[in-house]
Amino acid sequence: MPNEVIAIACDHGGFEYKEILKSDYKKMGYEGADLGCYDDSSVDYPDYANKLADAIKDGLAERGVLVCGSGIGISIAVNRHLHIRAALVHDALTARLCREHNNANVLVLGGRTTGIAVAQDCLKVFLETEFEGDRHQRRIDKMS
Ligand code: RB5
Repeated sequence: MPNEVIAIACDHGGFEYKEILKSDYKKMGYEGADLGCYDDSSVDYPDYANKLADAIKDGLAERGVLVCGSGIGISIAVNRHLHIRAALVHDALTARLCREHNNANVLVLGGRTTGIAVAQDCLKVFLETEFEGDRHQRRIDKMS
């Protein structure tokens, strides 16, 4: 919901998408916390996954968005944090289901694997879809 703070971070493979997605969610009324990287120089994706996980743990942001080249490395890295449920999605259906069924708190996209229009659609759906709770909460509880 707008007024919510959304943290965003990327490596060099996701830099271009981060800039576009950040501007999209700000236009939708969300607050942004940009944790880097800040240009397309080569960096290590675990560093940015860890920054984003820490921002959510410290209460700086409620949810987050991560982008690397494939989305794979940064999703593996961020899911090592027990308070994170990050979903690497490739279309609007998986973006919706990761919220409804998994209460995902981090959306992950691949800057070299998913077209920008699809990525923008995934972001909108992720931000606007509510968790369904009930049996899905029971399953999430079994992971903590
Ligand atoms: C960086 O070249 C690339 O390996 C990274 O962005 C990501 O795709 C890793 O999973």
